[in-house]
Amino acid sequence: MSDKATLILDGKTYELPIIEGTEGEKAIDISKLFKETGYITFDPGYVNTGSCTSAITYMDGKNGILRYRGIPIEQLAEHSTFVETSYLLIHGELPTPDELSHFSSLLNDHSLVHEDMKAFFSNYPRGAHPMGILSSMVNALRAFYPEVPERSHEEEIDLTVARLLSKLRTLAAMSYKISRGHLVIYPSHELGYCANFLNMMFDSPVKPYVIDYDVVRALEVFWIISADHEQNCSTSAVRHVGSARVNLYASISAGISALWGPLHGGANQEVVEMLERIKNSGGDPRPFIERAKDKEDPFRLMGFGHRVYKTYDPRVPIIKKMVDRILEKLERTDPLLEIAQNLEEAAVNDPYFIEHDLYPNVDFYSGILLRAMDIPVNMFPVMFAIGRLPGWISQWKESMDDPNQKLCRPRQVYTGPTNRDYIPRDKRISRSKR
Ligand code: ACO
Repeated sequence: MSDKATLILDGKTYELPIIEGTEGEKAIDISKLFKETGYITFDPGYVNTGSCTSAITYMDGKNGILRYRGIPIEQLAEHSTFVETSYLLIHGELPTPDELSHFSSLLNDHSLVHEDMKAFFSNYPRGAHPMGILSSMVNALRAFYPEVPERSHEEEIDLTVARLLSKLRTLAAMSYKISRGHLVIYPSHELGYCANFLNMMFDSPVKPYVIDYDVVRALEVFWIISADHEQNCSTSAVRHVGSARVNLYASISAGISALWGPLHGGANQEVVEMLERIKNSGGDPRPFIERAKDKEDPFRLMGFGHRVYKTYDPRVPIIKKMVDRILEKLERTDPLLEIAQNLEEAAVNDPYFIEHDLYPNVDFYSGILLRAMDIPVNMFPVMFAIGRLPGWISQWKESMDDPNQKLCRPRQVYTGPTNRDYIPRDKRISRSKR
């Protein structure tokens, strides 16, 4: 196989290097194309564009494979914890017992948030979406925890990483309590990362929260499978904003904003709302499938389709197993689960969905899992954001250490008016009279 691609433009031949990843993925290196030819490439939505090299996460969309630092997602979901997986993503290797205990104590040490931040919450309108609040809170963290010039760059980064991982979880639980007008519950050094979060969400002075370690495990697994997904929309936003050398808090805040969107992390909320609509309309999913196929109708089946996976998302069976386990343990049923299963069966056997390679993605069942944990629907994207945080941090860190990283600044093909003169105000004719 040639290690160069040949491009013929205006009768001139150019040779473009081919680069190859460790899993055999190939890319045509066009980094010098504009300089040498005066042409740019056109790729809306970056469907064919590799924006970086990365050693963090491997995805194979054809075969439904996902690995963090080489380790299959199925093994991590079975054996790891969220804190350990975060360490793996950020530092590149699984921690030794000493490293893990040091990392866990760092997270404990930085779990409180500045008391003055509570004032921020109380000034938000009651109906504000928690993702908007979370994004601005994370940006505000820089003001509360400014850089100290005496600290080395590495120390500063380690501290910021620990603060973010620990405080995002505290801020999320705080936002929930304040939105309900309830007393804020503080993090405890006695509890692990996930148990601490559930306790901050649901403990109350009148009804102490009893920790169920099966629910804690389900949350661990949900956060492990959410932790990274290579160059998705929010991660690319973090890298893009970070490329301007802004601080890590501001970059993560941009990631949270991107994840809020219904085509991305907001989909888990949309899925549950869609399943509710199916239930309220009598429970038959077929009219919704027909609407999703109709090109005149903007409606899409939420929780279906993926930019990379053209088969089952490998996270789906993991999350589905957790849903079954938790509902059985809690001795609960969820009418939305049956509707989701019927919808899935009808869609995956429908020729439109088969031809378009549309299968359930992680968001299809994650909402049902979060409901079983009593997480309110508008907090679903926030739960995803906490899970995705170690991925964003590791991708940001990798981009900062990458000698080839440049300011992200795409080009465009201009399609507006060509050169024309400024018209004085009294000489302008309104559009309707032209
Ligand atoms: N329902 C119906 N049709 C769909 C769906 C869907 N959910 N998803 C894609 N299609 C169709 C499109 O209409 C298009 O059809 P056409 O080629 O006949 O015009 C074709 O499949 C390709 O769709 P694109 O939008 O070009 O695919 P893209 O890779 O850009 O989109 C996306 C991926 C955004 C995830 C899309 O599948 C979607 O909107 N899904 C629903 C939202 C969702 O579940 N998002 C969560 C994704 S996972 C995550 O971010 C955590």
